[in-house]
Amino acid sequence: MTTPANDVDAALVTRRSIRAFLPTPVSRADIEAILEAASRAPSGTNTQPWKVYVVRGESLARLSQALLAAYDDPQRDALYQEEYPYYPHQWVSPYIDRRRKIGWDLYGLLGIEKGDKARMHEQHAQNYRFFGAPVGLFFTIDRVMERGSWLDYGMFLQAIMTAARGRGLDTCPQAAFTPFHRVIAEHLGLPSQEQLVCGMSLGFADENALVNTLRTEREPVERFTRFLD
Ligand SMILES: Cc1cc2nc3c(=O)[nH]c(=O)nc-3n(C[C@H](O)[C@H](O)[C@H](O)COP(=O)(O)O)c2cc1C
Repeated sequence: MTTPANDVDAALVTRRSIRAFLPTPVSRADIEAILEAASRAPSGTNTQPWKVYVVRGESLARLSQALLAAYDDPQRDALYQEEYPYYPHQWVSPYIDRRRKIGWDLYGLLGIEKGDKARMHEQHAQNYRFFGAPVGLFFTIDRVMERGSWLDYGMFLQAIMTAARGRGLDTCPQAAFTPFHRVIAEHLGLPSQEQLVCGMSLGFADENALVNTLRTEREPVERFTRFLD
């Protein structure tokens, strides 16, 4: 990796999805400072469509248990479905290839062979343990808001992850929670008007964890950019 040109680039390029955290707590003041900085994210007509739930301590442990129980429920597919399609209904290249690569890279790194459903299930379950992080963040949006606000939301989420890096903290954004929105809504006491967007684990990365040695690739700029002068 080339040396980042400045602190902003450093925060951007050192952000990666961390899947093993230390139990080291994150102070409420740090979480508030990250959210305050991230709330400077732009949004169409300054609508600020985000709402955040910070789950820690006993509350996190109880939610984790409820999520793991739901994830292990034999009736899971019938009982728990996502409310909005995060991924395309029909996968095509090059997206499907990239999706497969990250899956194989992750499982390969952990020595999980193709078809080893039990170990894949166990690895996926780490999502519901927040990868050992001391903080779980949940993000909701008012159901009245449209697609543009979801665009705004992405900027807010990236701003959180970048602000976390600025404080030596790491994150993993998680769509894995979305099928279990009812479990989460009950735990958070969500009004029916609020829809779960996604969750995120926040904490200090366990730098010694094998899973955190995963490095993802990106297409070079010239592959996704056209200059018209
Ligand atoms: C909205 C969103 C949801 C994601 N959901 C999950 C998830 O549920 N579990 C997980 O391990 N990673 C999840 N990821 C992480 C992606 O796999 C990761 O961003 C991608 O592979 C690129 O790797 P990097 O974040 O390390 O750069 C998610 C990322 C985003 C942006």
